[in-house]
Amino acid sequence: MPVIVLDNGTGFTKLGYAGNSEPLYTFPTAYADQESVSRKPGLLDDLDFYVGYEAQDRIGTHTVTYPMRHGIIEDWDKMERLWQHCIYKYLRCEPQEHGFLLTEPPLNPPENREYTAEVMFETFGVGKLYIAVQGVLALYASAQSKKSAKLGLENPLTGTVIDSGDGVTHVVPIVDGYVINSGIRHIPLAGRDVTNMVLQKLRNREGPNIPPEEALRMAQVVKEKYCYVCKDLAEEFNKFDQDQSLFHRHTQPQKGGKSFSFDVGYEQFLGPEVFFHPEIFSQDYTTPLPNVVDETIQACPIDCRRPLYKNIALSGGTTTFKGFHNRLQRDMRRVVDARIARMKEDLIDKTRDIQIEVNVVNHDLQRYAVWCGGSHLGATSQYQEIAHTKQQYDEYGPSICRHNVMFQSALREKRKY
Ligand SMILES: Nc1ncnc2c1ncn2[C@@H]1O[C@H](COP(=O)(O)OP(=O)(O)OP(=O)(O)O)[C@@H](O)[C@H]1O
Ligand SMILES: [Mg+2]
Repeated sequence: MPVIVLDNGTGFTKLGYAGNSEPLYTFPTAYADQESVSRKPGLLDDLDFYVGYEAQDRIGTHTVTYPMRHGIIEDWDKMERLWQHCIYKYLRCEPQEHGFLLTEPPLNPPENREYTAEVMFETFGVGKLYIAVQGVLALYASAQSKKSAKLGLENPLTGTVIDSGDGVTHVVPIVDGYVINSGIRHIPLAGRDVTNMVLQKLRNREGPNIPPEEALRMAQVVKEKYCYVCKDLAEEFNKFDQDQSLFHRHTQPQKGGKSFSFDVGYEQFLGPEVFFHPEIFSQDYTTPLPNVVDETIQACPIDCRRPLYKNIALSGGTTTFKGFHNRLQRDMRRVVDARIARMKEDLIDKTRDIQIEVNVVNHDLQRYAVWCGGSHLGATSQYQEIAHTKQQYDEYGPSICRHNVMFQSALREKRKY
């Protein structure tokens, strides 16, 4: 039976079978029930809850919550019900007949991993379980792209992963499949912040044109449809001032044949700019993404730094903005060139040539990179070796999932590339 790959993100859950190129289901990690809506006790049966888009559609009649925050599970009861939905409503499978591959953010507390194992084995009785670090899976996925192959990397499982989803952005250095924990950097900005930034701009300017209950959804639509990363902020403002056709008029159809329209302006390029000029939007967080990536690599052992600059892999929905890859490539190059210039100042021979190759790798599966890496791993014989079985769990308890054993196997896995 195929392995089930389940990547729960702060914003979206990606679910499907290993070996497929894309997840079968992608839906919001949202949960709704009538918990705090006044009702007679005992009136609702156990099944009166909703997940995903069905949950989001029940704002107003149900309490809608998101069980994850910043990539980490916060409400375990609701998460368990969401998993129940994934298994019995979406896939309609017998969990004991399948292996499961779940994902976790870097630096996930081991207690969380153990608790996940407990729920998976005891509540659902899954046949096998493996919990993989998201960054490593994303690097697996990137390693299979044409662009990665062209780079002639000595080891495609060495690289720096930028995983930016809905609730969190992580920069993760990985060497030979091992995560270098001390180098991991976390940026408190991700897709949800870009949506909020777009929302704020739309509210200020287009307030009366957008029904208030639709405002957040419209901000997300604008972000995903129109936003892009520009080359230079001042230049882009100038372009907009000279060319009115760069402003868009968005028309949103509604039920009953009605529709409403509003303008989309500077937020098209201002939203994603938060990663490159965070100081414009916040006083608390001011380090641009390229500098964070540079800091991450510099925090790693000196002999690993060159391959980490050579293979910077993108992962997550928020890295798919048009122009994101090119801007990051250019700005990373500038940061590294500035570093080389500083190094040369200290050299006696100022003419000595110092070369550092910098590559930001984008690919078609970036949006689902973590899930796709899991899909690949789940379809290999390696998965069967490293996953824990129900018998092992029954014998040793949840502590068998405390340590992640993937990295040793990753060393063998890499020879396949
Ligand atoms: N075309 C697009 N352009 C820009 N952003 C997009 C696009 N498509 C999706 N997104 C955004 O990507 C985010 C979801 O990405 P992803 O599924 O990687 O996050 P997640 O795994 O749920 O969150 P996290 O990894 O932070 O826990 C959302 O904020 C969504 O709006
Ligand atoms: Mg994610």
